[in-house]
Amino acid sequence: MQLSELKIIVTGGARGMGAHFATRLHEAGAKVVAADLDTEGLAALPSGIHTRVCNVAVESECESLVAWAHEQMGGLNGLINNAGILRDGLLVKKDRTTGQITKLSREQWDAVIGVNLTGATFVVRDAVAKMVATDQRPGVIVNMSSIARHGNRGQSNYAAAKAALAANTVTWAREFAAYGIRVGGIAPGMIETPMTQGMNQKARDALVANIPVGRIGLPEDIWLAVKFVLECDYLNGETIDVDGG
Ligand code: NAI
Repeated sequence: MQLSELKIIVTGGARGMGAHFATRLHEAGAKVVAADLDTEGLAALPSGIHTRVCNVAVESECESLVAWAHEQMGGLNGLINNAGILRDGLLVKKDRTTGQITKLSREQWDAVIGVNLTGATFVVRDAVAKMVATDQRPGVIVNMSSIARHGNRGQSNYAAAKAALAANTVTWAREFAAYGIRVGGIAPGMIETPMTQGMNQKARDALVANIPVGRIGLPEDIWLAVKFVLECDYLNGETIDVDGG
């Protein structure tokens, strides 16, 4: 599909990669709704991008986002399913000096699953329901997974959610093909955004030192992959790792 034909929602569109995608889409002539919890970030987006405060972890807010976006853009044929959070922690940790055992909290687990899996799933469900009800084809969905989908120390919650999104990229591609809707996934490595800027500097430097191309990824690197999924009408059901090697 051509970018200029898109009427597309970007969740988590107020900052980081989501803001970059929303801006690039807007520059390419797409109609864009950026949805996020962060009102300040939404207000700082280029004018012309529609903005909507929305918590994707709340089921009713997904449905009202989709209805609103459809109205604002005069249709809906795309979704970048990008909102996500981290609440890292080892599942079980033994303190080296005291021997004390700490466990990943239910709160950490539920928060990440609630946004990155349940929220991400219900946004897709409601967006696709609207596209099907209005016979808006072709349509395209891009899921933001992560290379953590392959497993990553300290990220049981995040890895589980991102692996599930990659698995359901296949499930949904098969389910929605009959409606003319494609689904693709992007699994970024470490990308320079507020999410990674909040990391411990030593841990961050060590991770960057291990990236074969020798630098952290930029939102533009991931945009090129997202653009490919949006434009390539033969890409379906695949999640692409974009991680510098
Ligand atoms: P970020 O933290 O900079 O931006 C995420 C945006 O999502 C924020 O604007 C935040 O307010 C919004 N958000 C969080 N919870 C929300 C909710 N419940 N409802 C609506 N909006 C919500 O993150 P970044 O780095 O731009 O990541 C974007 C996506 O890419 C996320 O899904 C993340 O897990 C994924 N990712 C990021 C990587 C990185 O290295 N930065 C690597 C791999 C995947």
